[in-house]
Amino acid sequence: MEFFEVVNRRRSVRRFKRVKIPEDDVKKIMEAGRLAPTDATLHLWSAVWIRDDVKKSEIAKLIGQPHVEEGSDFFIFLADLYRLRELLKYRGREIVANKLALFVFAAVDAALAAENMALAATALGYGSCFIGAVQNAVYDLVSLLKLPDLTYPLFGLVIGVPDEDPPRRPRLPADMLFHREEYRAYREDELKAAYEIMGRVTRSGDWLRILERYAARDGYFDKRSDLMISVMKRLGFM
Ligand SMILES: Cc1cc2nc3c(=O)[nH]c(=O)nc-3n(C[C@H](O)[C@H](O)[C@H](O)COP(=O)(O)O)c2cc1C
Repeated sequence: MEFFEVVNRRRSVRRFKRVKIPEDDVKKIMEAGRLAPTDATLHLWSAVWIRDDVKKSEIAKLIGQPHVEEGSDFFIFLADLYRLRELLKYRGREIVANKLALFVFAAVDAALAAENMALAATALGYGSCFIGAVQNAVYDLVSLLKLPDLTYPLFGLVIGVPDEDPPRRPRLPADMLFHREEYRAYREDELKAAYEIMGRVTRSGDWLRILERYAARDGYFDKRSDLMISVMKRLGFM
């Protein structure tokens, strides 16, 4: 597929045929992830590849995402400072930089690798879906995947043979996302238009419901933040 066709065709797939992707294709997808850019060559990410259906099903139940069970392969992307520490230790050095700041760079590295993989999967005719819901069961994942300290499960990516062809989901207009030469504040008519455009992704027609569900007090992200911080402390990031 031509590059822009791949970008246009990718969308989150949440229904998969229960068949396995040939392992050679999964390796090609992983190679696309390996070749992604990485800040300062540090490679502050890694991913746990879950192909075993029993384990995948257990994780799907833990995080409440049935499409993870249906998909062929599931990758859990980690912020990974553990490998950096091992590399430095091997040469008699240690991490002295602020680990919380490194966590941000790690999340960027991981996202770049994962998006390369999502696009590679699309180019090969497969479907994929990012899974932030791994945050619903971080402690369980840490023990199930035997994650060492200085690693943190950021998000997942499920890949499989699609059993649906979802419509393209709307996005904000380009001039709300890209600021030319300098940042500019949003006009009221743009904010109104944003709700109209994005309302199409929601059942109620009102995007505010989604924004609130995630970002409000006691919303999903608010509830997750205490857990995230406690896990990050336990794993040595803070
Ligand atoms: C970091 C991240 C986390 C996400 N987490 C989930 C998730 O847990 N479950 C899910 O079904 N979709 C998840 N999504 C998919 C988004 O809902 C989806 O990308 C968005 O609605 C736009 O739809 P599209 O990808 O089809 O264009 C996630 C996407 C991203 C980038």
